[in-house]
Amino acid sequence: MKKNIRYFLAPVLILLAAGILLIPAAATPAKKFDLDRFIEPDTCGGCHWEIQEQWTNSMHHLSHKDPVYNRVAKFLRQGLIQAGEIEEAESCVKCHTPVGVVTGFPKKLSDDLSKTPEIATQGIQCDYCHSAVDVTRMYNNGLVLAPGHGEDDPGVKHGPFDDSEPDFHEAAFSKLHQSSEICGTCHNVKHAAFGTDLETTYTEWENSPYNDPDPEKRITCQGCHMYQRPGIPATGSTARPENPGSATEDSMERLHIFTHYFVGANTGVTGLFGGKDKQEMAVERLVNAAQILLNTEKLAKKQLDVMVTNSGAGHSIPTGVGDLRQVWIEISIRDANNNLVFQSGFLDKKNQLSDDTIIFRTVLGDGRGNPVVNLAKARQVLSDNRILAKQTATQTIDLDFVPKKDSVITARLLYRGMPQKILNLIPGEPLGPLPVVEMAKVSQTI
Ligand code: HEC
Ligand code: HEC
Ligand code: HEC
Ligand code: HEC
Ligand code: HEC
Repeated sequence: MKKNIRYFLAPVLILLAAGILLIPAAATPAKKFDLDRFIEPDTCGGCHWEIQEQWTNSMHHLSHKDPVYNRVAKFLRQGLIQAGEIEEAESCVKCHTPVGVVTGFPKKLSDDLSKTPEIATQGIQCDYCHSAVDVTRMYNNGLVLAPGHGEDDPGVKHGPFDDSEPDFHEAAFSKLHQSSEICGTCHNVKHAAFGTDLETTYTEWENSPYNDPDPEKRITCQGCHMYQRPGIPATGSTARPENPGSATEDSMERLHIFTHYFVGANTGVTGLFGGKDKQEMAVERLVNAAQILLNTEKLAKKQLDVMVTNSGAGHSIPTGVGDLRQVWIEISIRDANNNLVFQSGFLDKKNQLSDDTIIFRTVLGDGRGNPVVNLAKARQVLSDNRILAKQTATQTIDLDFVPKKDSVITARLLYRGMPQKILNLIPGEPLGPLPVVEMAKVSQTI
């Protein structure tokens, strides 16, 4: 990480020496297209209404409006004075408001976001993804777009079919849309100035067994996330059946129509906007992601092993904003009379976890080994104990007693989007508590 600081400082010093005001390049991206080149999701939905309904109030639709994102982002931006840190804190809109950024407004987080054009407030949308023709880099949104010219001349929409002949727009088969790369360029986030890995979902998938060298056996992001529908979680540990149907009411029957719910683990935000279906599907995804087991062989030595297996996710558990997400183990031991003799990982009255809780997460650092809450200050990843795809993490718990015969040990794997401690730092109306989801549970009598 020292290297990164040097890389960063060198140009700063040169610019300062030259007396030039430093304007971070990534914070002021150039406008690429006129706004009227992009077509409203409502127009696409006129024919692809089922797809539009799935996408409506998904986390992609809500990426700009998401109140958790907005409040965290504004909080992180406060009080920064160092140029590299500011550059990162201003860069959020590149992925969260992508249509705005490529059409000129907003350029950065601190712009007056209430002036965001209506179409851009609709987040990651139809005409953004389906105008994508290439990727320049596998992080920080390197999508190259070739949008049409609005409704009168909609241009080419790129997708999975090689024989599509719609009359409204042209259509073209796209290898990019079948590959994890179209997702990965946004689902890998590097610090805009220091290069620190802030999110690595694509890289985790790329290094996982799901990325089979044989394309026939490979399970892409779409292979799980665009097969899910209510009642069919489509994870690595459950069936991923095809979804036969048609792309519009009167177009031909296809073997598979990719679903557009884009459900991950967010069980809070979609529900706030009426996306109840997405909220329930996130729970279905989480309860089919992992398994938890106990090994009681070392109890006589006052030790208990808890094994957590990532059986269903195509990347680490948790993934995404790994410094915020919390996946943790809650354990209780009750003796034969049902008296609680041991507990760990229980939320206290303030909705917080004690420091000795086993939490799977990443910890970001300031470059000198100290943890930082503000990712804008992150110059290093201090630790990462998240569970890789198809791998098992074994945690040994030290007890200060030998549990008696007929005691019941119960362990649960729990998920929530963010620690209460961080939510409490955010000024204004209290945020949270965020929902807690039980991902897996095991109970054993000894
Ligand atoms: C995050 C990017 C993204 C967004 C947003 C998105 N799509 Fe798609 N869409 C895809 C991908 C990727 C595929 C093909 C998946 C594959 O081939 O593996 C696809 C497939 C399709 C297809 C082909 C039929 C099918 O579903 O298989 C249509 C039609 C379509 N999308 C329309 C839409 C419409 C309409 C919207 C907005 C309501 C939309 N898409 C939003 C990425 C996106
Ligand atoms: C007037 C109706 C209509 C509208 C409006 C419409 N489409 Fe389509 N679209 C179709 C039809 C019909 C197909 C062909 C489906 C098939 O071949 O199975 C299609 C196919 C597609 C495909 C698949 C292309 C391929 O080759 O894989 C994509 C992607 C797509 N549309 C995206 C969009 C987007 C994005 C919008 C909004 C900007 C949109 N469509 C608006 C009718 C429409
Ligand atoms: C084998 C199936 C599978 C594949 C492949 C897969 N995922 Fe997931 N994904 C899951 C499951 C299960 C969860 C819920 C558990 C979790 O949060 O990790 C999930 C959760 C997520 C989340 C929410 C994470 C969080 O905790 O906030 C995101 C974002 C995501 N996936 C993106 C992707 C992307 C991008 C790819 C491709 C690079 C991908 N996924 C590939 C199964 C899969
Ligand atoms: C333009 C950048 C971009 C692209 C391209 C993109 N995503 Fe996303 N995705 C995001 C952002 C930003 C969010 C988070 C929005 C939020 O939480 O406010 C998100 C959220 C998600 C979630 C929900 C996570 C959760 O916690 O529930 C899933 C699942 C997901 N994306 C999968 C995909 C898949 C699969 C693809 C490829 C077909 C893809 N994404 C392409 C930027 C992108
Ligand atoms: C390169 C693309 C990219 C950039 C730039 C980006 N994000 Fe995100 N963000 C994502 C993706 C992808 C997700 C979904 C991952 C997940 O759900 O864990 C996400 C999710 C989030 C979430 C979780 C929201 C929720 O409802 O739980 C927060 C908070 C967030 N981002 C804050 C920020 C802030 C603050 C910035 C700027 C400092 C930023 N992001 C910049 C791609 C990006």
